[in-house]
Amino acid sequence: MLIKRAVRKDTEEIVHVEMHSGYKHPPNFDAFKNTIALFNDKKERIFIAKENKKVVGYITLRQDKNNVGDIGFLAILIEYQRKGIGAELMNYLETYARRNNYKELVLVVRDTNEKAIQMYQKHKFIIVGRRKSGDKIKLMMSKTIE
Ligand SMILES: CC(C)(COP(=O)(O)OP(=O)(O)OC[C@H]1O[C@@H](n2cnc3c(N)ncnc32)[C@H](O)[C@@H]1OP(=O)(O)O)[C@@H](O)C(=O)NCCC(=O)NCCS
Repeated sequence: MLIKRAVRKDTEEIVHVEMHSGYKHPPNFDAFKNTIALFNDKKERIFIAKENKKVVGYITLRQDKNNVGDIGFLAILIEYQRKGIGAELMNYLETYARRNNYKELVLVVRDTNEKAIQMYQKHKFIIVGRRKSGDKIKLMMSKTIE
């Protein structure tokens, strides 16, 4: 498995992963537009996991103020889940964050997304807040980078 920074020609494969990770998006979610916007944002980093040249997962990190990194997206193709790829992407991102002097990583996750919450807790993220979004509850999680 190879992890590297994504380039624009990875867009279609990233969209494919996002749409085939089992995550239920809101009805107006447009993965294609979203991925293009990520590439257009100079503060975003997109990292992809490749298996036999195929993109099977991705994670994004946005540099916010005060050296805070926001993990916006993380998804693994369903058939590649539970093989440690999500964990490898998280480790890669944390190493990147540490080398680039980030002080904190933050993310938001639905309170019903148990596998993601378990994964983040395993990576020492803690719940720092809760907010209502329509009829859903979202958890804010954070981890200090040492
Ligand atoms: C969440 C997600 C990224 C995990 O990726 P993954 O590659 O399957 O995860 P890993 O195999 O690296 O597992 C890492 C840890 O995550 C947790 N986990 C993963 N799948 C799980 C499941 N089905 N049930 C419970 N815990 C799970 C476990 O703590 C696991 O560690 P363990 O295997 O030692 O118990 C993946 O399930 C996914 O793409 N989900 C849909 C998209 C999504 O919800 N993204 C997060 C949005 S905030």
